[in-house]
Amino acid sequence: MRLMILDNREKAGAWAARYIAGRIKSFGNSEPFVLGLPTGSSPLVIYQEMVKMCRAKELSFKNVRTFNMDEYVGLPKEHPGSYHRFMMENLFDHVDIDPKHIRILDGMAQDKEKECGDYERAIKSAGGIELFLGGMGGNGHIAFNEPGSSFASRTRVIDLAQETINDNARFFDGDLSKVPKSAMSVGIGTIMDAREVVIIVTGKNKARALRSVIEEGVNHMYPLSCLQMHANATIVCDEDATDELRVGTVRYFKSMEKG
Ligand code: GLP
Repeated sequence: MRLMILDNREKAGAWAARYIAGRIKSFGNSEPFVLGLPTGSSPLVIYQEMVKMCRAKELSFKNVRTFNMDEYVGLPKEHPGSYHRFMMENLFDHVDIDPKHIRILDGMAQDKEKECGDYERAIKSAGGIELFLGGMGGNGHIAFNEPGSSFASRTRVIDLAQETINDNARFFDGDLSKVPKSAMSVGIGTIMDAREVVIIVTGKNKARALRSVIEEGVNHMYPLSCLQMHANATIVCDEDATDELRVGTVRYFKSMEKG
C-alpha cells in the first residue's frame, strides 16, 4: 500500500484529482473507464478540481462510467441529504458525463435485496471497477461498511453505527433524528475487487483511525485496513491526518515517494 502525504487538504485533493485524471486519459477509449465514487466532505476538493479540469478541457468524462459507493435508505433522489443530490450538485451537473453512465444505488427501491444484487451484476457487466475512489469515516469505515463488517461483504443494506449517524448529522441540519438509520453500500469485497483503490483521508479527526489502518494489522474493526491486502492501493492524506502515526512511519512513506 502506498501512502501519499501532502501538506494540506487542498494539495491532497488536487493530487488525487490529477492522478485520477491521468489514469482516465492514459486508459484510452477502446473500453469505458469504470470509476467508483464516494460522497462526504473529503472528496469535495477532488470534485472541484475535476470540474475545473473539465472546463479547461484537460479532462473528459465521455468515456467514464461511474458507480457510487452508497446511498441512504429511505431518501428520495431529490432530498438535499441524499447522495444522488450530492453527486449531481458537486460533480455530475458540471462535467461532460452521459447521465446514462451514472449509477447510484436507489435508496427508495421497493426490493432492496434485488437492488443490491442488480448493482453487483451491473458492476460485473461493466467489466469491473478500474479505480475505486473512497473516503474513510472517523471510525475507520469505508463506504458504509461499519466496524465488524465482513471483508467478504458485497452490496447490501447496513444499519449505521451511532458514531456515523453523529458524524453525518452535519448534513441534516445537525439534527440526529433526521439522519437515516440505514443505508445501502457496496461491500468490502466489492471494493477489493476493483483493480485499483485510492482513498482520500484528511483532517485531525481521522488521525486515530488512520493509525489503526496503517500501523496495526488487518482488522475487521477498522474496515479500511482491508487495503493492506489490496495489490494496488493508495491512501492520499494531509499532514493533519498523520498526527497519530509514528515519526518513523511518516518518514518511511515520505522517503518512498521521493524515490
Ligand atoms: C460517509 C460515507 C463514506 C465517507 C465518510 C466520511 O459515512 N458513507 O463513504 O467516506 O462519510 O465522510 P467525510 O469525508 O465527510 O468525513
